[in-house]
Amino acid sequence: MMEPTTQASKVHSHYLYIKLKQNLMWLYAVKTLRILLLGSVLFSTSANTQSQKTGSDGSPVAATSAAEQSSFATLNAAEKSLIAVFGPWPKELPPDAGNELSGQHWAESLGQRLFHEPALSGDGKITCANCHQATKGFTDGLPTAKGTSTHVRNTQGLLDIGTQRWFGWDGGADSLWAASLRPMLSDIEMNGDFTTISKRLRKEQYIADAIAQSPTPIALDELDNEAFAVLLSKAIAAYTRTLVSGQTPFDQYRLAVLNNDVDGQKQYPQAAIRGLKIFLGEANCHVCHFGPNFSNGEFHDTGRPFFTGVGQVDPGRYTGIQRVRKDVFNLQGKYNGTGEAAEIRKTQTVTLGQVNFGQWRTPTLRHLTLTAPYTHDGSLRTLREVVDSYADINPERLHAQGESLLKPLSLDNAAREDLVRFLETLTVSIQ
Ligand code: HEC
Ligand code: HEC
Repeated sequence: MMEPTTQASKVHSHYLYIKLKQNLMWLYAVKTLRILLLGSVLFSTSANTQSQKTGSDGSPVAATSAAEQSSFATLNAAEKSLIAVFGPWPKELPPDAGNELSGQHWAESLGQRLFHEPALSGDGKITCANCHQATKGFTDGLPTAKGTSTHVRNTQGLLDIGTQRWFGWDGGADSLWAASLRPMLSDIEMNGDFTTISKRLRKEQYIADAIAQSPTPIALDELDNEAFAVLLSKAIAAYTRTLVSGQTPFDQYRLAVLNNDVDGQKQYPQAAIRGLKIFLGEANCHVCHFGPNFSNGEFHDTGRPFFTGVGQVDPGRYTGIQRVRKDVFNLQGKYNGTGEAAEIRKTQTVTLGQVNFGQWRTPTLRHLTLTAPYTHDGSLRTLREVVDSYADINPERLHAQGESLLKPLSLDNAAREDLVRFLETLTVSIQ
C-alpha cells in the first residue's frame, strides 16, 4: 500500500474529526431533546394539576375542557381508523428513482463524506452541511437559506427524504440525486461548476478508493466532467436516503390505540390527544398531511404569500413543473441509471396549469421541533404561528382556483395550543 501523503492524512483526520464532532453534536441534540421531552411532560402534568386547583391569582378555576375533566381522552371509532394511515413507521421507502448506486454501502459512505466536501462549491468554502445541519433536522434554522447569496426559500430538512417523489418546495426535481446536483450548480447556493468540481476532486484518493469498491466497475477517466458530478450527486443521494428517523411518541400512541393497549395510550399527553382530534376533525389537516410521513406528496396553496420582494414573486409549483420538464438531469434524460418506466412516466405526464401558481409541496410534519422556522419562505417562526395562520386564514388570499378545503377555524386559544402539543409529538423520541 502507498504511504498516505500528508495532505491525504490531513483530510482524513479532518473527516474523522467532523464525523466525531457530528456524532457528539447528534448525541448532544438527542440528550437535549430527551430532557426537553421529559421536561415538557413534567411541565404539562404539573400545569394540569395546578390548573385544577387554582388560577394564577389563587382563585379556583374551572377545568378548561370536558376532556380534561374526564379521566382520560380516547379516540372514537372513526378517529381510530383515521390514525391507522399514519403508520407503520419507519415507512418502507419507494425506489430511489434513477439512482443505480442507491443502497450500496460504498456509495453511502462516499456520499456522507461528499456532504461535507467544500470543494463542491465555487469558492471552495460551502458544503451541503452548512445549510443542512444534522442537529436541526438537516435545516439551518434561518428563514431563508444563505449560500453564495441569499435564497428566497427556507432550507428543507432531509430526514426521511427517501419517502418523497418530487423534490424541492416546488417539486423542481424528480429524483433525489438531481435535487442533490442542483445546489452544487445553483448560483445562490454553492455556485460550483462541472469543470472546477472535476479539477478539484477527480484526483482525490478517497473518491477513487470508494469507487474501487463498486461491484460494477466504474472507469473514472471515461466520465466527462458532467458525468463525474452526476456520479457524485448519486452517491450523496445514496447517503441522504439513509437518514431515516425513528419512532415518535405519536407512533407509540398510534400502536397503543390500534392494539387497544390502554396503559400505552396513557403515556401520551392528554393535550396531544385533544390536538390530534382537532387535526383529524374540524381542522381537516389530515386531508393533505396524510400517510406515515404526514404528507400526501402533492402540491397545494395554503394562502402563504408568494411575494419575495417588490414586484417579485416565487410562483412555487408553477415554476417547479417548468424546471423539471426542461432539466437535462430529469428522469427522461441520459443519466437515469435505472430506467424504470413508471418513474419516467411521472415526469412525462406532469402538466402545467394556472392552478399550480402559489402551490408548494405538502411538507412532512415529522421533526417539526427541530426545523423552525416554517413554510417555503420561513415566514412563520413557531408552530403556534403556523396554527394561527390556518385558523385565521383569509380565504381571499387563496388564489382563484384555491383550496376549498381551507376555511377559517373556530379554535380558541386552548384548542390552538392543543394542536401545537400534538404537532410536537411528531418529533423523534429517543429510547
Ligand atoms: C445555501 C444553503 C444550501 C446548501 C449549501 C445546500 N442546500 Fe439543499 N436546500 C436548500 C434550500 C433553500 C432548499 C429548498 C430548495 C427549493 O425549494 O428549491 C434545499 C433543498 C434540498 C433538497 C430537497 C429536499 C426536499 O425535501 O425535497 C435536497 C435533497 C437537498 N437540498 C440536498 C442538498 C445537497 C446534497 C447539498 C450539497 C450538494 C445541498 N442541499 C446544499 C439549501 C441549501
Ligand atoms: C390543502 C392542504 C393542506 C391542509 C388542509 C393543511 N396543510 Fe399544512 N401545509 C400544506 C402545504 C402545501 C404547506 C407548505 C406551505 C408553504 O410552504 O407555503 C403546509 C405547511 C404546514 C406546516 C409547516 C411545515 C414546515 O416544515 O414548514 C405545518 C406545521 C402544517 N402545515 C400543519 C398543518 C395543520 C396543523 C393543518 C390543519 C390546521 C394543516 N397543516 C392543514 C398543506 C396543507
